[in-house]
Amino acid sequence: MGTIAVVVAAFWAMLPAYVPNNAAVLAGGGRPIDGGRTWRGRRLLGDGKTWRGATAGVVSGTALALVQDALAAPFSGTIDLVLPGFPVVAAVALPLGAVAGDVAASFLKRRLDRERGAVAPGLDQLDFAVGALAFAALAAPAWFGRVFSPPALLAVVVLTPLLHVGTNLVAYRAGLKGEPW
Ligand code: CTP
Ligand code: MG
Repeated sequence: MGTIAVVVAAFWAMLPAYVPNNAAVLAGGGRPIDGGRTWRGRRLLGDGKTWRGATAGVVSGTALALVQDALAAPFSGTIDLVLPGFPVVAAVALPLGAVAGDVAASFLKRRLDRERGAVAPGLDQLDFAVGALAFAALAAPAWFGRVFSPPALLAVVVLTPLLHVGTNLVAYRAGLKGEPW
């Protein structure tokens, strides 16, 4: 496959890890995951991490992966592009890992004395991608190895932050999000 095909296939595989953030912004709110608990004078996670947001993220990401799985087969191989399918374990692991990475980043941000919504360059843009890749690698190692070759991984790590900054800017301008990051 050519370089562009490798990048397109990698982003296709990452879509179920990208939607949870957006779903959480749209559907989030309500009871925080940490239940308001604090540790050493700081919130464990903060009000920005809610059960509703996390659930919406995992459900929407898994649903998208299963739809993509059904769509990929007829297209694959027709052009110089092999779109990967999604075994159920990968369909769940990608969004679950994305949400877990986002939650872990909030935990770290609170330990670093950054309030909810404060910017953490690097962390905010990659937490969910690293979480998704780690969960997928553990849950579906063979699938992961096939889909994320070293060049595909590189493309994901370099382009994900740009995509994240772009969509957050749109969500901020649209009044859906409090901060542009
Ligand atoms: N959100 C949610 N539940 C989640 C993740 C996100 O409800 N598990 C919603 C919250 O309304 C949150 C918004 O999506 O404010 C944006 O998410 P994010 O930028 O991750 O949260 P922040 O508010 O910036 O909080 P933090 O500093 O902890 O990242
Ligand atoms: Mg934020």
